[in-house]
Amino acid sequence: MTDEKPAIEELTHAQAAAELPALVAGIEAANTAYHTLDAPEISDADYDALKNRLRAIEARFPDLARPDSPTQKVGGAVAEGFGKITHAVPMLSLENGFTDDDIRDFDGRVRNYLGLGPEAPLTYTAEPKIDGLSLALLYEKGVLIQAATRGDGEVGENVTENARTIKDIPQRLENAPDVLEVRGEVYMSHADFEALNARQEAAGEKTFANPRNAAAGSLRQLDARITAARSLHFFAYAWGAHSEPVAETQSAAMERFRALGFTVNPLTVLCDGPEAMLAHYRAIEAQRATLGYDIDGVVYKVNDLALQRRLGYRSTTPRWAIAHKFPAQTAWTRLEKIEIQVGRTGALSPVARLTPVTVGGVVVSNATLHNEDYIAGRNSFGEEIRGGKDIREGDWVQVYRAGDVIPKVADVDLSRRPEGAARYVFPEICPECGSPAIREEGDAVRRCTGGLICPAQAIEKLRHFVSRGAFDIEGLGAKQIEAFYRDGWIREPADIFALEERYGSGLRQLKNRDGWGEKSAQNLFDAIRERRRIPLDRLIFALGIRHCGEAAAKDVAQHYGRWEAMAEALDRARPAALAQRAADAAEEAERATAQAEGRRARITEARNAAIAALDVPDDATTAWADLVATDGIGPVLALSLSDAFANPEERLAIDRLVAQLTILPPPAKAASGAIAGKTLVFTGTLEKMTRAEAKARAEALGAKVAGSVSAKTDLVIAGPGAGSKAAKAAELGIEVIDEDAWLALAQGT
Ligand code: IVH
Repeated sequence: MTDEKPAIEELTHAQAAAELPALVAGIEAANTAYHTLDAPEISDADYDALKNRLRAIEARFPDLARPDSPTQKVGGAVAEGFGKITHAVPMLSLENGFTDDDIRDFDGRVRNYLGLGPEAPLTYTAEPKIDGLSLALLYEKGVLIQAATRGDGEVGENVTENARTIKDIPQRLENAPDVLEVRGEVYMSHADFEALNARQEAAGEKTFANPRNAAAGSLRQLDARITAARSLHFFAYAWGAHSEPVAETQSAAMERFRALGFTVNPLTVLCDGPEAMLAHYRAIEAQRATLGYDIDGVVYKVNDLALQRRLGYRSTTPRWAIAHKFPAQTAWTRLEKIEIQVGRTGALSPVARLTPVTVGGVVVSNATLHNEDYIAGRNSFGEEIRGGKDIREGDWVQVYRAGDVIPKVADVDLSRRPEGAARYVFPEICPECGSPAIREEGDAVRRCTGGLICPAQAIEKLRHFVSRGAFDIEGLGAKQIEAFYRDGWIREPADIFALEERYGSGLRQLKNRDGWGEKSAQNLFDAIRERRRIPLDRLIFALGIRHCGEAAAKDVAQHYGRWEAMAEALDRARPAALAQRAADAAEEAERATAQAEGRRARITEARNAAIAALDVPDDATTAWADLVATDGIGPVLALSLSDAFANPEERLAIDRLVAQLTILPPPAKAASGAIAGKTLVFTGTLEKMTRAEAKARAEALGAKVAGSVSAKTDLVIAGPGAGSKAAKAAELGIEVIDEDAWLALAQGT
């Protein structure tokens, strides 16, 4: 089996490096077959020949010998834990659509963005959405060198050894680009899932709730032999890093993957528009039960890759694709009890404790009841839902589950309501700390007013603080945070960074706590120290401010660049933020009567009067306007940020934290480009791209796009029909260019 290979003495270093991974994989597969599966696949002589060749190569090129080489041990590899891999191209998710109209709207948005009329030809691919976990496979010079899970989309786990055990994943590719990262979904078939659970049960081990969990659990095994023993499959459907174009269309890319040896889903078709896409959706839905593996919808992608590039990405999803999800699954069961959980922002969330029931293959025993109006049978506008039926403890309820989302209680069967069941009374004091729980005007949610004195809020805030997209401190998970909080070791984020000083030596030491030892304590201190340097966007996200998710935190960080600039601007803008709130309240108060009288002007008057009464300084108005005008921010988030920074207790805690950190500014967006940092104004008609596309392109190159020309404008792009804006630019001596010159700039030519 090694006879066509060059003799060891003739091997160059590069040839040896290229041969090694496949050799290692071959030996590991043989080990697995022999040791784990008791089903040897090659003869002893062939096995020895493989191992001897590996030894000889390692002896000749010691720098190529890997510490985990099969020559160093008996049996298969046992990894130490998963290393982290930063994806060269982030692994994004997909926008979801549920109804036929969502898909028609998607087509409309794509056409709009590209400036295509409703009749212009536009082709999409349609393929099943596999319910597994995504995996990125990196090939260099045709050799599989790395496999990474999605993780948080930016950093995943190194599961290379495990991925090598999956038969659908080729170890080598012929005629591939020098660098090619193939992405796709790892999944487990229904038959393999049933067999695995039967084996687990017989062995007294834990069983898996569904094939996706089983696939994830099997891929993320520290011992690759276990992965090898659990049949996993892989469908290729996308790509990341690549040294040359993969193809010109999505469908040609899939053909190419197939030719390279990957499995591509056979239910992938080309569609000439939304109606054909919907027809394929129904065809796939009809086959769903007999496919033998789980799918949770259909994915549509713009076929032309040049158009995909033009459409580009929003913060976490591409504009050129959408997932059309299958409808949720439902089941009926008894609602045993309603319990209240208090979240990080103090929200009191009602949770239904249910008699366990299987919904779409998953056992559900908890479901959300949203808020008190929902329980009472009203929506947030006070209108009846479920025909006004309220939900009571003891009721027979319908549970609804769609994909990954938390199951919810959808309906109630009044004919089965037990006698004497009482209306549910939503608590007006926090069940965790006894503080009043109040509902603000226009808010559907009742919130505990205890702030950080409420243990539930404090713990949730801390849990969020150390979560994956935030500080992500290894060894400091939800469980540890809770224990440290209860014992008073960590009450606020700043305490985490004082942990080593307080509990590294002296009377009470971390290493002496239950569940801790010398090594784990040291590891935790090291992990915390490592996080003293933190990117600005992660810090902002970690603060757990309402409405400020990861994408918003990135936008805020990008906008201000530095922590100090952000804090100063928020302080300066505070009077204007308060004026905004007063104006909103005045509008609310005026709205009902003013609208009835058809006098919209009165609303504006009321707003203006509220603002005037507060006498807002000009610099506050400017700072506020600058914040709310930032893409991705807007008044709701801006108010929430302002409130957090203006709350004296919260601000002191934030300041104590920040004093412990080195905050890293966000990377400058394409800072070297010709238009980075400039303010652009588009005017007149653009003929080669739509306004939306031009704006997205400019922003991707680090420019700001403004709506009107002022002394701050750096460049005006004027198409035919440009009027007063171009004239004003000329008057101010601002450079004006035409669309072709803009295209050249945008393409960097
Ligand atoms: S395309 C830029 N195609 O669904 C995103 N994703 O909900 C490219 N998924 O993270 C993804 N089947 O893990 C694509 N045929 C398919 C898919 C698919 C399953 C997963 C994927 C993604 C998630 C988004």
